[in-house]
Amino acid sequence: MAYVISGTCTDVMDKSCMEVCPVHCIYEGARKLYIHPDECIDCGACEPNCPVEAITYETEVPAAQEQHVADNRDFFWSVLPGRDTELGLIGSARDYGPVGVDTPLVASQPLHPANQQ
Ligand code: F3S
Ligand code: F3S
Repeated sequence: MAYVISGTCTDVMDKSCMEVCPVHCIYEGARKLYIHPDECIDCGACEPNCPVEAITYETEVPAAQEQHVADNRDFFWSVLPGRDTELGLIGSARDYGPVGVDTPLVASQPLHPANQQ
């Protein structure tokens, strides 16, 4: 079990969540951030820090965002576009830095209205 970042984060990427995570398990894609389900310690510190309420516990994700439970996991345990291997266990987003690529689900989303020109 772990906390999950839903699609509401897409193109917003406030990153306040990263600042409070004690184990640095929130990783940065190109348009969204993802919580590593095997590194998260379920402390809950990130949840109230997101200004768009994109973070919830795995069992409390709204039905409309349900696909992001598996998608957070897929970010680490499937081979992302442009990569040769899965990310797997990493250990620290602070040390690793931005991953710079998204899952196919997130990459296929229409651009957030606030970012359209
Ligand atoms: Fe995204 Fe909210 Fe974190 S917008 S980057 S989940 S603070
Ligand atoms: Fe990190 Fe705790 Fe959230 S471990 S991802 S701040 S639940």
